[in-house]
Amino acid sequence: MRFGFLLGCCALFWSISTATSIQGIQDLVKRRVPDQYEEFVFTLDANSNSSEVANDTYTISTLNGSIAIQGTSLSALATGLRRYFTDVAHSDIYWFIGNHLDQVASPLPRPTEVITGESIVPWRYHFNTVTFSYTSPFWNWSDWELELDWLALHGVNLPLAWVGFEKILLDVFRDINLTDSEILPFFSGPAFQAWNRFGNIQGSWGGELPLSWIDGQFDLQKKIITRMLELGMTPILPAFTGFVPRAISDVYPNASIVNGSRWEDFPLQYTNTTFLEPADPLFADLQNRVISKQIEYYGDITSFYTLDQYNENDPYSGDLDYLRNATRGTWQSLKAADADAVWVMQGWLFYSNSDFWTNERIEAFLSGVEEDADMLILDLFSESQPQWQRTNSYYGKPWVWCELHNYGGNMGLYGQVDNVTGNPVAALANSSSMVGMGLTPEGQEGNEIMYKLLLDQAWSAEPIDTETYFRQWTRNRYASSQHTEDELPGQLYRAWELLRKSAYNNTNLTSNAVPKAIFEPAPNITGLVGRTGHHPTTINYNPNDIVEAWRNLYAAATEEDASLWANDAFQHDFVDVTRQVFANAFLAEYETFIALWNSSSSSTTVSDSTTTTALQTHATRLTTTLSTLDTLLSTLPQFSLQTWVDSAATSTIEEYYISNALNQITLWGPDGEILDYASKSWGGLVRAYYLPRWQAFLGYVLGVGPQAYEASVARARVKEVEDAFQESGGSALGSDGDEKGVREVVQSVVLPVLRELGVL
Ligand SMILES: *[C@@H]1O[C@H](CO)[C@@H](O)[C@H](O)[C@H]1NC(C)=O
Ligand SMILES: *[C@@H]1O[C@H](CO)[C@@H](O)[C@H](O)[C@H]1NC(C)=O
Ligand SMILES: *[C@@H]1O[C@H](CO)[C@@H](O)[C@H](O)[C@H]1NC(C)=O
Ligand SMILES: *[C@@H]1O[C@H](CO)[C@@H](O)[C@H](O)[C@H]1NC(C)=O
Ligand SMILES: *[C@@H]1O[C@H](CO)[C@@H](O)[C@H](O)[C@H]1NC(C)=O
Ligand SMILES: *[C@@H]1O[C@H](CO)[C@@H](O)[C@H](O)[C@H]1NC(C)=O
Ligand SMILES: *[C@@H]1O[C@H](CO)[C@@H](O)[C@H](O)[C@H]1NC(C)=O
Ligand SMILES: *[C@@H]1O[C@H](CO)[C@@H](O)[C@H](O)[C@H]1NC(C)=O
Ligand SMILES: *[C@@H]1O[C@H](CO)[C@@H](O)[C@H](O)[C@H]1NC(C)=O
Ligand SMILES: *[C@@H]1O[C@H](CO)[C@@H](O)[C@H](O)[C@H]1NC(C)=O
Ligand SMILES: *[C@@H]1O[C@H](CO)[C@@H](O)[C@H](O)[C@H]1NC(C)=O
Ligand SMILES: *[C@@H]1O[C@H](CO)[C@@H](O)[C@H](O)[C@H]1NC(C)=O
Repeated sequence: MRFGFLLGCCALFWSISTATSIQGIQDLVKRRVPDQYEEFVFTLDANSNSSEVANDTYTISTLNGSIAIQGTSLSALATGLRRYFTDVAHSDIYWFIGNHLDQVASPLPRPTEVITGESIVPWRYHFNTVTFSYTSPFWNWSDWELELDWLALHGVNLPLAWVGFEKILLDVFRDINLTDSEILPFFSGPAFQAWNRFGNIQGSWGGELPLSWIDGQFDLQKKIITRMLELGMTPILPAFTGFVPRAISDVYPNASIVNGSRWEDFPLQYTNTTFLEPADPLFADLQNRVISKQIEYYGDITSFYTLDQYNENDPYSGDLDYLRNATRGTWQSLKAADADAVWVMQGWLFYSNSDFWTNERIEAFLSGVEEDADMLILDLFSESQPQWQRTNSYYGKPWVWCELHNYGGNMGLYGQVDNVTGNPVAALANSSSMVGMGLTPEGQEGNEIMYKLLLDQAWSAEPIDTETYFRQWTRNRYASSQHTEDELPGQLYRAWELLRKSAYNNTNLTSNAVPKAIFEPAPNITGLVGRTGHHPTTINYNPNDIVEAWRNLYAAATEEDASLWANDAFQHDFVDVTRQVFANAFLAEYETFIALWNSSSSSTTVSDSTTTTALQTHATRLTTTLSTLDTLLSTLPQFSLQTWVDSAATSTIEEYYISNALNQITLWGPDGEILDYASKSWGGLVRAYYLPRWQAFLGYVLGVGPQAYEASVARARVKEVEDAFQESGGSALGSDGDEKGVREVVQSVVLPVLRELGVL
C-alpha cells in the first residue's frame, strides 16, 4: 500500500506496513500483566486508513468499566498503554530490571478523566547499527521479547533489524558461486559484526565465524521481525552495501572494485575492505538478490533499508561527480529491487569525518538520490553535534532527530536534560523535513531516564518539564503495590533532583557523552583526566552533588522499613550511584597520588620516607577502591562481567564466543587497536583486569622517581596484564563466592572504605 504525507515543502510517498489486527497488543498485555489483561479494551480508530502518514494519537478513558485505549495505530495503542501505566497506575517497564507493570495491585485504577496523547513526529526510531554488537550480540529470545515490548510501549515504530544478516549475504554469495571458504573469512566475530556490516573491518581474529552462529541468528531474526510487525513496528532491514569478500575478483574478474580506507590502524588483513562500485551492474544484481532473498525469507514487510557505505570510511574519491554517481547507483539499485524503497542512512560520517565531508560534498552526495522522499537520514548525535543546520536540513531529505548519548556502552552517570527536551521541539519548528525522533545509543547502558525522556518528548509539543518528569520517574520506579507517592521517603526525590541538576544537566558540550571512570583506560601518569572525544573522562559536575544524592538514597533505605533494600530498582540505582561515587573518589585519589609523586624530591627514586609512606597510603587506597567496588558490583547480575560471558557461552564453541566478548570490552581488536573503547565498570572485570593493571602500574611507579620513569617500561608491565586477561579466556572470572546482597555489602564493606577515602 502506498501512503503519502504532506510536509511543509513536499509530498512524500512512503509505503508502510499497516497491520490492523490488535492481537499483538493484546498479547503484549498478556505477557506483561497476565493477571489483569482482561481489564483493558483496545480500539484501533476506524478512520486510521488515512492516505497520509501522520502523527499518532491515542485516548485513554474508562468505558463500561474497562480501561479503554483507542488510537490511530498499534504504536499509538501501545504508547497509550504505557501512558496509562506511568500516569495512572504508576508503574513502568525498564532495561536491566525488566517489567514492573505487573506490580500494581488489583483491580487496576481506572482513569478518572480522559487522557489524550499526540505524537509530534510520525516516526519514532531506535538502534544504532553498533548497538547490535555492543549490547545485543548474545541476546536470546527472551531478551529480545523484553526489548521489543519496551520499544512498543515507548512508542517506537521504526526499529533497525540487523540480526542474522550474514545468512542473507552467505546465501547470495553462494548463489553467485563463491565458496564457503571464500565467504566465511569475510565475516567478523559475533561481537564485531557491526563494523563488518559498515565495511570498516573484515575477518575475525581468534577464529572464523561458525555457520551454526549464522543459522541461529537467522532463526532469531525471523522471530524478531514477526514480533515487530505484531507490535505495529516497521522493521528497517539491511541492504547490499557493496562490501564483498576479496574473492569476488576471482568470480568476476572485471568487477569494478576499490579498497576502503584503513580503519583505526587495524592490520590490513582485517581492514582494507573490498568495495564494489555502485556504478557496476554487478552491484545492482547483488542488491536485487539481497532484497529478493529477504522478501523470500521474511515476506514483503517493509520498504525501509539501512545502508551505510562511508561510515568512518572516506569514499575513494572526493570528486563531486564521483560522489553523486555512487549515491545514484546505490539508489537506483534499491529502487530496481523494491520500487518503494526508502534508503535509511546514519549521518554520523558528516560529523565524525567532517574534514572530508564539506557541505559541497554532502550536497553532491545526497543529490544522487533524486527523490527526496526516497531517503531518510538519521541525524545521529542531535543533542550535541547536530548536522541538520549546517546541511540546511540535509538539503531537503527527510531526517530523524536522534540522541546518541554514549560511546561503546560506557557507564558514567550522564545526561543533557535541556538539549534532549528543548532541541527537538525547536528543530521541528525550524526544519520542514524533520519527520522523526529516536535513539541511537552505541550501547544500551544505564541512564535509562535520559532515553525515556527523548522518546516521551516525541509525544509532547512543548519541552517536557524535567523537574516533574524526574519526580514521576522516582515515584514509578520505586513504587510498588505497597507504596503511594506520599509513603515514599522524600530523600528518594531529593536524590534524583540532585542528579537532575548535576550529572544529568551537562551543558558544556566540549565533553558530550557518557564519561568512563579513569580506572578503565590503561593506567598512566598523564593523559587520563579531563579527556574529551571518544574516550571521555571529563566529569561535568561537582562530585559532591553525587555524594549528596548517595547520602539521600542511603538515608531513604535506612530510615525506611527495609523494603527498599529488597526493591530491584532501588538496588540497581543504589549500586549505580555508588559506582559513580567510587569512580569519582578514585579520580581524586589518583590526582593526589600523581601530584605527590611528581613533587617527590629525588630525581631517580622516591627516597624521602614521609613521601614514600604517603604514596604507599594513596596507592593502597586506589587498589582498595577497586577491590571494594568490584565486590559491590558483583552483587547484581546487570553489573557483572559474568552475565556478559555467560550470554556468550551458550554454545559448544563457547571459547570462541567468550574470547570475542572479552576482546570487545578490553583490547577491541587483535592487538589493542581501540584499547578500552567499550570499557565497563563490571564486577569481575574490575577485579580481573583493571585492578591488576593498576597494581602493575603502581608497583612500577612506586619504585622509581619521576626522573627515572620510562613510559615504555610502565606500558609493558600493564600490557602483560591485558594479554594475560585475554588469554585467560574468562577463567580468571567468577565471583568471590560471596553471595551477600547489596545491603550487606554496603554496610560491611562499602561504608568503611568510603569513610577511609574521606568521601563520607
Ligand atoms: C482506504 O482509503 C482509500 C482511499 O482513501 C480507499 O480507497 C480504501 O478502500 C480504504 N481502505 C479501507 C480498508 O478502508
Ligand atoms: C458493557 O458490558 C456489558 C457486560 O459485560 C456488555 O454486555 C455490554 O455489551 C458492554 N457494552 C459495551 C458498549 O461494550
Ligand atoms: C505533527 O505534530 C507536530 C507538532 O504538533 C507538527 O509540527 C507536525 O507538522 C505534525 N506532523 C504531521 C505529519 O502532521
Ligand atoms: C536468556 O538469557 C537470560 C539472560 O540474559 C537468561 O536469564 C535466560 O534464562 C535466557 N533464556 C533462555 C530461554 O535461555
Ligand atoms: C554458478 O555456477 C553454476 C554452475 O556452474 C552456473 O550455472 C551459474 O550460472 C553460476 N551462477 C552465476 C551467478 O555465475
Ligand atoms: C587491499 O586489498 C586488495 C584487494 O584484495 C589487495 O589487492 C591489496 O593488496 C590490499 N592492500 C594491502 C596493502 O594489503
Ligand atoms: C572482462 O573484460 C574483457 C575486456 O573487456 C572481456 O574480454 C571479458 O570477456 C570480460 N570478462 C568477463 C568475465 O566479463
Ligand atoms: C558519473 O556518471 C556519469 C554518467 O554515468 C559518467 O559520465 C561520469 O563519467 C561519471 N563520473 C565519475 C567521476 O565517475
Ligand atoms: C544544549 O544546551 C545548552 C544549554 O542549554 C546550549 O548552550 C547548547 O547550545 C545546546 N546544544 C546544542 C547542540 O543545541
Ligand atoms: C542546567 O545548567 C544550566 C547552565 O548552568 C542552567 O541554566 C539550567 O537551569 C540547568 N538546568 C537544570 C535542570 O538544572
Ligand atoms: C568545558 O569543558 C572543557 C573541557 O573539560 C573545559 O576546557 C572548558 O573550560 C569548559 N568550559 C566551560 C565554559 O566551563
Ligand atoms: C602513557 O601515555 C604515553 C603517551 O601516550 C604512552 O607513551 C605510554 O605508553 C603510556 N603508558 C602506559 C602505562 O600506558
